[in-house]
Amino acid sequence: MSREAKLEKLAAKRQEVLLGGGEKKIEKQHQSGKMTARERISALLDDGSFVELDQFVTHRGTQFGMDKAVAPGEGVVTGYGTVDGRLVYVYSQDFTVLGGSLGEMHAAKICKVMDLAVKVGAPIVGINDSGGARIQEGVDALNGYGEIFKRNTLASGVVPQLSVIMGPCAGGAVYSPALTDFVFMVNNSNMFITGPQVIKSVTGEDVSAEALGGAMAHNRVSGNAHFYAADEAECIGQIRRLLSFLPANNLEGAPLFDCGDPVERADEILATVVPDDPNKAYDMHDVITAIADNHDFFEVQPYWATNILTGYIRLNGVSVGVIANQPKAMAGCLDINASDKAGRFIRFCDAMGIPLLTFVDTPGYLPGVAQEHGGIIRHGAKLLYAYSEASVPKMTVITRKAYGGAYLAMCAKSLGADMAIAWPTAQIAVMGAQGAANIVFRKDIEAAADPAAKRAEKIAEYEDKFSNPYCAASRGLVDMVIEPDNTRYYLIKSLDSLLSKKESRPGKKHGNLPC
Ligand code: HXC
Repeated sequence: MSREAKLEKLAAKRQEVLLGGGEKKIEKQHQSGKMTARERISALLDDGSFVELDQFVTHRGTQFGMDKAVAPGEGVVTGYGTVDGRLVYVYSQDFTVLGGSLGEMHAAKICKVMDLAVKVGAPIVGINDSGGARIQEGVDALNGYGEIFKRNTLASGVVPQLSVIMGPCAGGAVYSPALTDFVFMVNNSNMFITGPQVIKSVTGEDVSAEALGGAMAHNRVSGNAHFYAADEAECIGQIRRLLSFLPANNLEGAPLFDCGDPVERADEILATVVPDDPNKAYDMHDVITAIADNHDFFEVQPYWATNILTGYIRLNGVSVGVIANQPKAMAGCLDINASDKAGRFIRFCDAMGIPLLTFVDTPGYLPGVAQEHGGIIRHGAKLLYAYSEASVPKMTVITRKAYGGAYLAMCAKSLGADMAIAWPTAQIAVMGAQGAANIVFRKDIEAAADPAAKRAEKIAEYEDKFSNPYCAASRGLVDMVIEPDNTRYYLIKSLDSLLSKKESRPGKKHGNLPC
């Protein structure tokens, strides 16, 4: 064969792969509001940066017609490119080819880019759009999933892993996203272990795919997803934005930005944001955005466990992970879901060397039989574990209530806060004054000629003693009490001093996280 003919053959073979499942299937994909696997990669990566691998990998199936089945690209497009100039590895399942189903070689392509990403220390973005295990390949397909799950686990804490659900993701296939750090779901995509028909036949429950495992179901109800997008373009914007806050791996810092926002910028809203009435709510978003560079807060899991906020800001250009009680939702109580949400977020930030900033205003753990029987003890323990384990710089700001176990669980000094800052409105105590008076002074109150007056007197006494930051400050359990409007300044100064922090832990194989 002549040199020209060989080049023509290469071009023809490549053309075949680029067409995936063919015009008709691409048209169907577009009609359902979905991009193709390649279009998604093009939209995600910087223009012209994509380098494709394994274009000519083919399946080795022989059963149930697979001997005749042509699967261009093996139903998944893999390779690497850049996002804002930074290296990222990607795989994108091609639903136009055998429904994006995962067989032995499809899995091998994914595993190859995962291995490369870990070796070079770059994030992995996996775009899921698949009918799941390729039914015709039987155990070879299952084994492929196992290989991916193992790599997801081994890559955890080494490079950021982002899963993007842009179509079906069914059965055991859901466990790859579940093992990764962040799950993005687009409207009309879904994830479930068993679909509506199986559920109907087993339990009799009637549920649509959307209600069972749609993007909002997982963003709002189950907590399996971290981001919701109305369409794929919005989702890709979210992925690029998240990556901008993250380091490429556990040994590098996150990119530094020239923020252009003055370090000393005071914000008057902070002086009045905490209401005089201790039982009145306020929105912790206002506090976070007031102190963040350019008021920019990128919230993670904004729809689930809204009594705790998690997300990223920058302080003088440095990426910081924020965890904050939200007094506007359930008074900022800690519960099972809030503990799970914050615990996992903290552990990701710690693994990736991202400093932590905690805002505290919580009356405590949520009381109730459902919480106790649901395991608030073991779930709540995750928060203590995650903060205690974290060795990144840890800064805590107590804006108002810091009561009981929740005071500790929100990164108190004893859990290793490097800088504990309190506002003058802080109340650091075992419990609120009203509750305390009912328990500690019950006998005094009952014996008094005027019980109501005695009760008021005892509440005032307790408030005076403990419902302030000064008792904790007198023991060095808060490092400084500051004027709230200067919080940004003090946090940036603190962070500056903590960036070179090194803290070691006892050598061990690994700890045993409560779960
Ligand atoms: C092989 C598959 C497939 C699969 C879809 N296809 N899923 N081929 N293995 N798992 C093929 C279809 O035969 C069809 O081929 C093409 O992909 C498009 O599928 P359609 O059904 O036409 O598309 P749509 O109507 O959009 O429905 C999509 C779907 C449905 C909801 C995903 O295909 C479906 O229910 N698939 C099976 C889902 C499933 O049960 N998977 C196994 C899960 S268990 P043609 O040639 O007609 O175009 C699992 C175990 C993992 O994944 C275990 C890990 C531990």
